[in-house]
Amino acid sequence: MTFCLFELCQNKEILDKVRKEIREVLAKYNGELSYEALMDMKYMDKVMKETMRKYPPLPFLDRMCSTDYEFSGTDVTLEKGTKISISLLGLHYDPDYFPDPQKFDPERFNERSSIPGYAYLPFGSGPRNCIGKRFGIMQTKVGIACPLRDFEFKLSAKTVLPFEYDTSSIVTIVKGDIWLEPKRLTSKC
Ligand code: HEM
Repeated sequence: MTFCLFELCQNKEILDKVRKEIREVLAKYNGELSYEALMDMKYMDKVMKETMRKYPPLPFLDRMCSTDYEFSGTDVTLEKGTKISISLLGLHYDPDYFPDPQKFDPERFNERSSIPGYAYLPFGSGPRNCIGKRFGIMQTKVGIACPLRDFEFKLSAKTVLPFEYDTSSIVTIVKGDIWLEPKRLTSKC
C-alpha cells in the first residue's frame, strides 16, 4: 500500500485512472466494497503487480539445493545442501524481462504481456509459495481503494528522497518512512 501510493503520487495520470476505476466499479456494486467489486478492479490489479515488481515486499526467496546441480555452459556447480538466496529485486529490475525497469508502468502486466513465469515472483513459486496470496491481494486492494476513492495524496516534505531501504528489516521498508499528505476530495463517489 505504501509503495503503491508513493508511486501514484508521482504518476498523476495513473492515479486518476485507478480512482476512476474504483469509482466506476463501486457505482456498479451500489457503493459496496465487496469481494466481487474488488476482483472487478482490473486496472488496479496491474498497478499492484507493478508495485510488487518494483518493491517486492519480500525481496528474496530462500531455498536449499536438494541435489547437485551443474549450470550448463559454466563451471559452476551447486552442491546438494547449499543454501540459496534468489534475489527478487535482481529479477524484477532485469531489463531483459522489464525494459526501462525504473519506470512505473502497469501496462507491463496487460493481457498480452510476455513476462516469463519465473522472472516475476512477488509471492514465490512452487510448493512453498505464499499461502496468503489471495488474502494479501484482497487486503491491499481494500487499503488502496478506500483512501483513493475520497482523498488526494501528495508526497510530504518529510519523505526523504531518494529514499534508502532499511536493510535491518527482512521485508521491504524505507528508512524514515514514506510520508504522504492526504486531502479530502470534494467530489463524492
Ligand atoms: C502482499 C502480501 C504478501 C506477499 C507479497 C507475500 C509474499 C510471500 C513470499 C515471497 C513468500 C515466500 C514464497 C516462496 O519461498 O516461494 C511467502 C510465504 C508465505 N506467506 Fe506470504 N505474502 C503476502 C501475504 C501473506 C499473508 C496475508 C499471509 C497469511 C495470512 C501469508 C502467509 C505466508 C506463509 C505462511 C508463507 C510460508 C509458506 C511456506 O513456506 O510453505 N502471506 N509470502
